[in-house]
Amino acid sequence: MEVAVHDLDLAYGDFTAIKSLDLTIPDGESVVLLGQSGCGKTSTMRCIAGLETPTGGTISIGDKTVFDGNSGRVVPVYKRNVGMVFQSYAVWPHKTVLENVAFPLKMKGVAKARRRTEALAVLELVGLAHLADRGASMLSGGQMQRVALARSMAMSPSVLLLDEPLSNLDARLRDDLRVELRRIQTERGLTSLYVTHDQQEALALADRIAIMQAGRISQLGTPEEIYGTPASASIASFLGVTNVFPVAPGSTSRALELADTEVVLRTDRAVPAVASSACIRPEDITVTLDSGNDVSDLSGKRGDANHLGGVVRIAVFQGSTIRCKVEIDGGIELDAVCPPPSTGVLAPGARVTVSVDAAAVKVLPDEVPSAETRAAVAA
Ligand SMILES: Nc1ncnc2c1ncn2[C@@H]1O[C@H](COP(=O)(O)OP(=O)(O)O)[C@@H](O)[C@H]1O
Ligand SMILES: [Mg+2]
Repeated sequence: MEVAVHDLDLAYGDFTAIKSLDLTIPDGESVVLLGQSGCGKTSTMRCIAGLETPTGGTISIGDKTVFDGNSGRVVPVYKRNVGMVFQSYAVWPHKTVLENVAFPLKMKGVAKARRRTEALAVLELVGLAHLADRGASMLSGGQMQRVALARSMAMSPSVLLLDEPLSNLDARLRDDLRVELRRIQTERGLTSLYVTHDQQEALALADRIAIMQAGRISQLGTPEEIYGTPASASIASFLGVTNVFPVAPGSTSRALELADTEVVLRTDRAVPAVASSACIRPEDITVTLDSGNDVSDLSGKRGDANHLGGVVRIAVFQGSTIRCKVEIDGGIELDAVCPPPSTGVLAPGARVTVSVDAAAVKVLPDEVPSAETRAAVAA
């Protein structure tokens, strides 16, 4: 069922955790709420579940309003039909796997035989049917999370809320379970809100990603949109764009001056009128050793690229790529991820030429303006 959150506010005493948040999860879609720790993700989820009473705004699930700050309407948790999975393994250790999963059905008054059939069906879905009669305390962390997931799905919830459910698992298991979650999500057409601070997880699991910063949603888009076109430098930086440099006022696309440095770049983007930064993905940087004719090879060949001289400070071999930090003449350090050079070695101290296509230099406003700032500018 569609979940619609409108103009949501939540305060803990004097502290405002959520500010006029708008978010719609269309029926059957997986929306991932992605943001740094402390930005308000869990609080938002708890408001939807009914575990927290917002200060204002409205929340509806399907055509039912479950919270309305104006009328004071608050529908209790157990009448919202939401399924929840948390970071900690919330399974009952003294019950069997099957009993864990069948429990919500028992609460609903479903007859015993049907409870077993339905519980087995969801256990099948999460790949645990063969362990139905095992004690839950005998399971591994990954299996316990599957049980928690199966239990939350057993009652056919209108919406499934998942709060960093994979973060306690080791890397390998997390990858596997992530793929499986996506399969279940698409197979079942579940409406879900998934909360995480991990961008890889968000990119893998989302139909749409909502970037949350300081209690509000600053960007909403498909994983491709968010990854390819972050709305601000702070979002880009959060998404792993390690090269972020404030742009000096008065800069233009042809002469993009990096503040407090001698470095001038070119970009094919318009420079915003507000405080902005040049953002460059490490993968978009080419590093070439300055040995003999390499430099002359570069000039002229790539007319649209920026070429900067520098010295390698750190180089880390990563298998198919090398990650290096290059101190650029003129006062910046660039982080690059590139294939090993065909001849020579990218080692600390080596003189190099760094090339970046103008198209790869993104000039983004430092922050997404909030609704209040936009209104103030318009006035
Ligand atoms: N019960 C509470 N009382 C006071 N402050 C809280 C409470 N719960 C969360 N907060 C604060 O609200 C902010 C958002 O918290 P939370 O929603 O848990 O963030 P996230 O899940 O994104 O890490 C944080 O600054 C946190 O310290
Ligand atoms: Mg949290």
